[in-house]
Amino acid sequence: MLIQLTYASRTARILGPADIKDILGASQRNNARAGITGALCLNHGIFLQQLEGDRAAVNALYHRLLKDSRHKDTAVLDFGEIPYRRFSNWSMGLLGSVEANRQLFLKYSSSSEFDPFSMNTLTLRSFFDEILQNVRWLE
Ligand SMILES: Cc1cc2nc3c(=O)[nH]c(=O)nc-3n(C[C@H](O)[C@H](O)[C@H](O)COP(=O)(O)O)c2cc1C
Repeated sequence: MLIQLTYASRTARILGPADIKDILGASQRNNARAGITGALCLNHGIFLQQLEGDRAAVNALYHRLLKDSRHKDTAVLDFGEIPYRRFSNWSMGLLGSVEANRQLFLKYSSSSEFDPFSMNTLTLRSFFDEILQNVRWLE
C-alpha cells in the first residue's frame, strides 16, 4: 500500500556539506532499493522531509531516522494513503535554503520564519506541490 509521511526535525548541531552529502548518499543508496521516493528541505536548521512508498518500508525508514543523532525534535506532520507517487523521479531530492527559494518558503509561512512545525496539512501539501513544479534542485 502506497503512503506518504511528512515530518519535520531540527538539526542537532551545525551540519556542514559533508553531513548533507552523507545523508543524500545514504538516501540514494537505500531509498532506490526500498522503493522510497521523496524530497528533503533544509532551511534555518529545520529539516522538512516527505517520504513516499510502501507503508512498511516508509515506517522502517522513519524508525531509522529517529535514531539519527544529526537531528532532534522529530515530529510527524502528515501521514496517509496516496493514489500515486509525486516524486517518482527522485530517490531523494534536496531543496536547499538558497536565495532563489526564499520567496517560496515565505509564501507558505505565517510569520517571517519558515516554520513547518506550525504549518497545517493543507499548507504543507500545497508547499510540496509547488516544490514539484518550480524549485531549483541542488545536485
Ligand atoms: C534529515 C535526514 C533525512 C534522512 N533521509 C534519509 C532517507 O531518505 N533515506 C535513508 O536511507 N537515510 C536517510 N537519512 C540517514 C539515516 O538516518 C541513516 O543514517 C542512513 O539510512 C544509514 O544508512 P546506511 O546504513 O546505509 O549507512 C536521513 C538522515 C537525516 C538526518
